[in-house]
Amino acid sequence: MPRASSSSRTSASRSWDAVAEWYLGWSGTRGSIHHRRTAIPLLLDLLAPQPGERILDLGCGPAALAPYIAQRRGTLVGVDRSPKLIEAARRAHRGKGRFLIGDVTALDRVTALESAPFDAATFLLSIQDIDPLTATFAGLRARLAATGRIVIVMVHPCFRVPRQSGWGWDEQRQLQFRRVDRYLTPLSVPMRSTADGRAATRSYHRPLEYYVGVLAEAGFVIDTLREVPAQPVARDSPSPAQRRAETEFPLFLGLRARRAAP
Ligand SMILES: C[S@@+](CC[C@H](N)C(=O)[O-])C[C@H]1O[C@@H](n2cnc3c(N)ncnc32)[C@H](O)[C@@H]1O
Repeated sequence: MPRASSSSRTSASRSWDAVAEWYLGWSGTRGSIHHRRTAIPLLLDLLAPQPGERILDLGCGPAALAPYIAQRRGTLVGVDRSPKLIEAARRAHRGKGRFLIGDVTALDRVTALESAPFDAATFLLSIQDIDPLTATFAGLRARLAATGRIVIVMVHPCFRVPRQSGWGWDEQRQLQFRRVDRYLTPLSVPMRSTADGRAATRSYHRPLEYYVGVLAEAGFVIDTLREVPAQPVARDSPSPAQRRAETEFPLFLGLRARRAAP
């Protein structure tokens, strides 16, 4: 059984509407540089979308994935709880998908979602903002075809723990190391405060075994796992130690899961 994923000790809102302008400023409707260089190629590689396939994108936000699926002649249906981000998706990707306001942890209540099963479901940098996952995957199971697959791209939970990880410099050994202060304990971390300090979203840290367990509990098995370093941002002459650390530590993780054999 997966362990409980979050605590509700702090009172930060879980709505992304309050930070929609900030997110659109950072990511736009085409995705941030990290989306375009790393996360979207990784997701497409694992998904291998085929013409005519119907893809359900959970926590789609402004739906940066939509043009890529349309280009491959698939159909994307995005669901997100933030009306402002869905509005941005509808404006930017007209004719390239359907974008619905809804809570992915209660997919049975997203009434605009058609009943025909989907060929695949995707989480593009959204799963760590969604809670609880048990309900999400249980609902998803009912929406996926028997041969359906789930593709998840997230920041690597072993190396990126919100507020609990980062780079460090070892003077004696002249090397850049990755520092991880906490890992096994699931965390619910308030994030991205606006200028007035009131609105914040939550990010949920869970150890890798949690994802394996919660998928298995819903009847899915992981068949592919990829660990991918972040593409370094352009800057003046990184040192060999920096370059080595950047290629050595995978800051992104991709998973593909399918239904377990009955
Ligand atoms: C980091 S953003 C990623 C958005 C998009 N996938 C992207 O890559 O730009 C996380 C998204 O998850 C959505 N989200 C979080 N919890 C949700 C829930 N329970 N139901 C639907 N969307 C949710 C937020 O509204 C937000 O748009």
